[in-house]
Amino acid sequence: MLHKNSCIGVIGAGTMGSGIVQLAASFGHKVLLFDANVAVAAQAVDRIGKSLESLVQKGKITDAIAKSTLSNITNAKSIDEFAKCDLIIEAVIEELSVKVEILKKLEQIVSKECVLATNTSSLSVTSIAAACAGSGRVVGIHFFNPATIMPLVELIPGIASDMKVIEESRALIDSWNKVTVLAKDTPGFIVNRVARSFYGEAIRIYEEGIADFATIDWALKEIGGFKMGPFELMDFIGNDVNFKVTETVWTQMFFDSRYKPSLTQKRLYEAGFWGRKKGRGYYSYADSAVMPEAKRDKDLGSAIFTRIISMLINEAYDTLYYKIASKEDIELAMTKGVNYPKGLFKWSEEIGLRKIHDELTRLHARYNEDRYRPSVLLSDSCK
Ligand SMILES: NC(=O)c1ccc[n+]([C@@H]2O[C@H](COP(=O)([O-])OP(=O)(O)OC[C@H]3O[C@@H](n4cnc5c(N)ncnc54)[C@H](O)[C@@H]3O)[C@@H](O)[C@H]2O)c1
Repeated sequence: MLHKNSCIGVIGAGTMGSGIVQLAASFGHKVLLFDANVAVAAQAVDRIGKSLESLVQKGKITDAIAKSTLSNITNAKSIDEFAKCDLIIEAVIEELSVKVEILKKLEQIVSKECVLATNTSSLSVTSIAAACAGSGRVVGIHFFNPATIMPLVELIPGIASDMKVIEESRALIDSWNKVTVLAKDTPGFIVNRVARSFYGEAIRIYEEGIADFATIDWALKEIGGFKMGPFELMDFIGNDVNFKVTETVWTQMFFDSRYKPSLTQKRLYEAGFWGRKKGRGYYSYADSAVMPEAKRDKDLGSAIFTRIISMLINEAYDTLYYKIASKEDIELAMTKGVNYPKGLFKWSEEIGLRKIHDELTRLHARYNEDRYRPSVLLSDSCK
């Protein structure tokens, strides 16, 4: 049974692993960290120390809390030290063979009750669990970046997962002040599936020459109220990461054209124009760079917004129709996981289902592409 004194293990000390370590330690858990690269693990603990220090300086936590959080973290020399853990979350690179190898090793070491979790973004939890002898205790616990700040966590049972393990894990993560949602083990779970068209449809609009990056970003922010436009956001996430997630969701959805990646982003990926971290993506981030001006045309902006929001809402309806998650969880996922200004169902009611359906029907007729087919649930809801 997982509880407030459970010992937590984290494997992989990169972006996600280090965030999960800091989070669990800040809630009083003893946390063990292991990374195949010893230097990376040491750097992660340093980084956590600096992050805690800065929270103290900002007055968000006391010095005593920072010290006790840090003292809860141990850098393990070998995976054998994980024998005492009650929950282990693997956050290593997104490679099925690497994740499977780790979980199989852990199974030899830990107690029968220990929960084994994967933080995978796009691999199937079922396929990871299937490699283990006790697949019932393997679950997906999907944090968002940065794990210390983003409130959402998706809980994903594989098809052989024991639902008691999911419930226990959910209760524990809830106790870390997170908003948890339950998702079926399908490509992209909730957020990475529903959000695909925010990027994909924006690129499509650009590729058709309807508007440039700056104008599309302006439309989504000014008219839609999104905090960042799709191109700014892709540059922030990284075009390497964003392209790979799109490609994986598309291939795992058996090449459904709704999720089709774009050649525009593929070329950026190939060129190494990965966004902010490389100084160049859709935009240039060089010191001398001047951000391009948007064409602030209200009618054009409205047309762009209507097209993209219709695609997003359609995906939310389909996600509900195929019972990937409940309506409430889809609303929570998109507002808490990617900061959408409103839940997509709420938004659909404000805009009007008929208007969304008409837009999709218009796009479907114009392009004659399956990509624009309205969800059955959306069509039924318009009747
Ligand atoms: N970065 C994100 O925004 C994000 C968000 C949610 C989920 N995820 C998922 O979380 C996982 C980790 O992503 P990340 O961005 O932190 O990656 P990362 O590249 O920053 O870190 C991965 C770490 O795993 C370590 N590693 C590789 N093989 C190992 C092994 N055999 N044993 C121990 N350590 C090993 C590497 O040394 C590296 O430090 C992936 O599955 C990813 O899909 C990432």
